[in-house]
Amino acid sequence: MKLKQLVMKRYATKEFDGKVIPQDKVNELFELIRMAPTSFNIQPWKVKVVTDKMTKEKLFPVSWNQKQITTCSHLLVFCADNDILGLVDKLEKEMIAAGASPESIKGYVQMMRDFAKGLTPDQALVWAQKQVYIALENAMLGATALGFDSCPMEGFNSAEYHKILKLPKNLVASVLCPIGYAADKPLPKLRFKKEDLFF
Ligand SMILES: Cc1cc2nc3c(=O)[nH]c(=O)nc-3n(C[C@H](O)[C@H](O)[C@H](O)COP(=O)(O)O)c2cc1C
Repeated sequence: MKLKQLVMKRYATKEFDGKVIPQDKVNELFELIRMAPTSFNIQPWKVKVVTDKMTKEKLFPVSWNQKQITTCSHLLVFCADNDILGLVDKLEKEMIAAGASPESIKGYVQMMRDFAKGLTPDQALVWAQKQVYIALENAMLGATALGFDSCPMEGFNSAEYHKILKLPKNLVASVLCPIGYAADKPLPKLRFKKEDLFF
């Protein structure tokens, strides 16, 4: 499918039919998400994958009782990772493992460290969350390309998700992307006019 068709076809599915997506397709989607670009290539996010019925049922009431949570195949919980300094260390190791000489990346790594040290915890979280949304777009368009459906969702209580999913301290559940096969139909697209958006 051409990109234009994917963009026009994707829609925010309100209810799925409960059918499970084959794991090889899910793995293909994970690969598309993994390739999302991030600032400095710092990759400040992780995705918690929820498939079991009991956990979905626990999450349902803290997700504004939205049916996508209990009817989806896989619930992808996109978490921002606010341990930016830890990620700089990790990226430095990976770059060296990939063949970069420590000397050649010294300046770049120092620049990232200085940037990370200059962020307040709130700023670090906002910055990480911006990167999360780029990965989210890959997830949504990727799902359409692979023949299933998705819904971006901010209607949930992040603190409750943290408790129910026992997330580590550095992760903040930021946006959801349930995936599965739609049991509803898309509404016509309603968007502001071109001239209202581009100037
Ligand atoms: C960041 C974000 C959060 C959203 N949160 C929800 C949500 O909690 N529940 C829901 O049903 N739709 C949610 N939506 C879907 C939007 O309502 C939908 O994308 C918009 O109305 C345009 O419709 P379309 O995606 O079907 O073209 C969200 C969309 C985005 C991008």
